[in-house]
Amino acid sequence: MRSTTPLSWARRLVEATATLKRPIGVFDSGLGGLTVLRELRRLLPNEDFIYLGDTARLPYGAKSRRIVQRYSMEVAEFLIQHNAKQIVIACNTATAHAEAVLREAFDVPVIGVIEPGVRALLQQTRNGRIGVIGTRSTIKSAAYTAAIKRQAPDLQVFARACPLFVPLVEEGWIDKRITRLVIQEYLSELHREEVDTIVLGCTHYPLLKTTIQQEFPDFTLIDSSFEVARAVQAAVDPSPTGDKPGASQAVVYLTDITDQMNHLETLLTGMNIDRLEETRL
Ligand code: DGL
Repeated sequence: MRSTTPLSWARRLVEATATLKRPIGVFDSGLGGLTVLRELRRLLPNEDFIYLGDTARLPYGAKSRRIVQRYSMEVAEFLIQHNAKQIVIACNTATAHAEAVLREAFDVPVIGVIEPGVRALLQQTRNGRIGVIGTRSTIKSAAYTAAIKRQAPDLQVFARACPLFVPLVEEGWIDKRITRLVIQEYLSELHREEVDTIVLGCTHYPLLKTTIQQEFPDFTLIDSSFEVARAVQAAVDPSPTGDKPGASQAVVYLTDITDQMNHLETLLTGMNIDRLEETRL
């Protein structure tokens, strides 16, 4: 019988781990980031994903920079403990406040939603008058304005917090009369300012995209989820192929699951999630 030398054992271990898939970790304060996960799965069908929605502590958009940074660190640590090879911050508020902190703290690539969204925006605008809408905390951070000015200093940026959009989406009130009134109230001013392109700077807002577009047909609305997925694709260390097609997995963890999650079903429809679990951080 041949003895197993430490060297051959180590070599076998290296070979075995080379074929192991490490998931891409994605997080949001809640469920809105599932719009990003959907695009990621479409674009990267060979990758495994682990998603964490911090539903127990939502909303991040009304919290201070310090708290958003702390929560984001805790969530990212959870993803790293689950062997994530890359972290996607599918939350505008967390990107605005914590992207740099996470990049500093972890040695895996960290991708936020702001830079990819800005790239898409710059391609779309015709008159250089840009609208940015998001949570109070995102708008207060001025992270979008700074990112736009870095790439195109001459553009005019009009930023507007739309804090009622998140609860309307959470309630599943996507195209009610009251939702249309709130859209009018928030966005009329941007229309008067002749803004032509608006970035939906909150992961909940893509669910209101059709209704916003119906109220303001001449706005070009940027949903950054596709651009984020492309940025992840460009940065990812691809998983080994050779698995059966469709063998990749997506697991969704939420820090609280309640029967009030009216939009969860809409978000998960057709996405093929392998497991949905409640977890503690
Ligand atoms: N996910 C957050 C964002 O994209 C919105 C919800 C919240 O306030 O936590 O900014």
